[in-house]
Amino acid sequence: MLWPSQAHAAPSNYMPVEGSTIAGYVDSLYGFLLTASFISFVLVIGGLIYFAIRYKRQPGSEKSAYITHNNVLEFLWSFIPFVIFLVVFGWGWWVFDKMHTHPENALEVHVVGQKWSWDFLYKSGKRVTNEFMVPVDTPVKLIMTSQDVIHSFFVPAFRIKQDVVPGMYTALSFVASKKGSFQVFCTEYCGDGHSAMLAKLNVVSQEEYESWLAQGDPYEGLTLVEVGQKQFQQKCAVCHTAGTEKKIGPGLANVFGQQRNFENGESLVGDENYIRESILNPNQKIVQGYPAAMPPFQGQLTEQELSGLVEYIKSLAQ
Ligand code: CUA
Repeated sequence: MLWPSQAHAAPSNYMPVEGSTIAGYVDSLYGFLLTASFISFVLVIGGLIYFAIRYKRQPGSEKSAYITHNNVLEFLWSFIPFVIFLVVFGWGWWVFDKMHTHPENALEVHVVGQKWSWDFLYKSGKRVTNEFMVPVDTPVKLIMTSQDVIHSFFVPAFRIKQDVVPGMYTALSFVASKKGSFQVFCTEYCGDGHSAMLAKLNVVSQEEYESWLAQGDPYEGLTLVEVGQKQFQQKCAVCHTAGTEKKIGPGLANVFGQQRNFENGESLVGDENYIRESILNPNQKIVQGYPAAMPPFQGQLTEQELSGLVEYIKSLAQ
């Protein structure tokens, strides 16, 4: 299987690249399980084939001896696997405990999952969507929650995964050991856009991280339409095209200035207020032929971002 993060760093073996300090521990345990399973497979299947051939029924020797049991054999084939399972249990516990011991004075980043994007909030007030940055060789703690349904935050290269649950915080800690760009997946089926609920984790030097964090307004120098386009790519493109083609929702090029027919039989011509309402409270008017699938974006966009989106959607209609 080709993992996206391999584009940035070569994998060391059959697993994705080891991008965190815990990854090596997980891979060792996984390697042990794989090796132990392979040896057991060879012993069991090899033994089966050997005995089938060696003790095949011969002419003139119809009856085999009547053997009831063998205490030594039965003890060994129970006790040896038991010891192996205990080793796997203890080893797994040890790695799990390491993984879930959150370091003190870690760099803390809040993560908010929603259908179908990830927001990252830094203590400096910086807020980014679907792409975030952490310094290399630094303990990081993600404090995570969801706006709607259960999502799950998974970084294959880091071997860490945690459910993200509405109404509570869950946490995930790691120390990134390699610089690069790593893929984040949502691994809890959360609806139509689940497979597109992706993010990038960029691991950089401490200096790069600090200068990135110090950067001010992310929209500086952008026109309102460009601000909207940026938001569109981050928040809307999972479900909407910028053309007239359908995706999960209607294409956005035929919204402004166009006749919109709704499920309740009403209709109107798309204007700024209609677009605004459809973003903040989309279930108010459901377009004919579409499911009421869009989550409300009330409270998730600044006025600048909202006006940007309105202007961007207007620009698509021209
Ligand atoms: Cu979020 Cu699947």
